[in-house]
Amino acid sequence: MNQNQIAVQLKGRDLLSLHDFTPQEITSILDLAADLKQKQKQGQPHELLKGKTLAMIFQKSSTRTRVSFEVGMFQLGGHALFLSADDIQLGRGESIADTGQVLGRFVDGIMIRTFAQSDVAQLAEHCQVPVINGLTDLLHPCQILADLQTVREHKGKLAGLKLAWVGDGNNVCHSLMFGCAKTGMHISAACPEGYLPDDKIVAAAREDAAETGATVTVTTDPAEAVAGADVVVTDVWASMGQESEQQARMSIFASYQVNAKLTAGAAPDYIFLHCLPAHRGEEVTAEIIDGPHSVVFDEAENRLHAQKAVMALLMG
Ligand code: CP
Ligand code: NVA
Repeated sequence: MNQNQIAVQLKGRDLLSLHDFTPQEITSILDLAADLKQKQKQGQPHELLKGKTLAMIFQKSSTRTRVSFEVGMFQLGGHALFLSADDIQLGRGESIADTGQVLGRFVDGIMIRTFAQSDVAQLAEHCQVPVINGLTDLLHPCQILADLQTVREHKGKLAGLKLAWVGDGNNVCHSLMFGCAKTGMHISAACPEGYLPDDKIVAAAREDAAETGATVTVTTDPAEAVAGADVVVTDVWASMGQESEQQARMSIFASYQVNAKLTAGAAPDYIFLHCLPAHRGEEVTAEIIDGPHSVVFDEAENRLHAQKAVMALLMG
């Protein structure tokens, strides 16, 4: 299938999970992201969404997602509306279904950051325009597109690399499992007992991996996951919505810190990723996140480019 056929196939689709996309579709998104990044750096016009609008519903805080989507729409010639759930009627009990139906009459796409993955699916079901998952308790697909773009930039390829996840088996870990499986990267996730990734996600990622030759491994041993890894990734120990567990998690996750001792077992030229925001001294030491292997700010920047590609393909 050529680029044009894939573009036709992507038009009008939702981005709820990377599991719903073929390896070829993900590669196309990454290719366009690289192209748009170059155009933006060189000051070349790329107004692929001229006159179009994106509604952005936020039921949780955000720095990167909010700013990258808003700036991305502007650079594509369109406009984004920031809708805090506290300010729209959703926060006063209007249903997700009605919100979707109404917004779909006004805008060309909706990005939503919320708690339940089922809310994103329901929104998509009830509106005519593409819905993009800007993070749920279960998944964070846009983050992983930026991560894949970053790995590709620094390593020149994806298939065959080993990525180690260390920490909580959370939303970012789940989407990374899909992202790696779809692109042929081996992923090994080390998480404490009780905080392992969701079994259904692991099983679905293994189905994806069977098509690309990737492997999806789950362990409780950080050293095993990091052994020989080309990419080492972590995230906060308590995600948004888990603030009351913060203290308890500090001791549960203590031996899952990404530090110099742990990364000594990684490939000598490994890169370190973190979706940010980070807690230095908790899930990662300052020495690592601010050190020579860290590419976390390239990763943050790539949110902009990867999401512009997603919006251009889905909403174009
Ligand atoms: N990584 C990420 O999604 O950051 P924000 O919470 O700032 O959007
Ligand atoms: N796992 C984190 C990611 C933040 C971007 C959270 O859900 O809070």
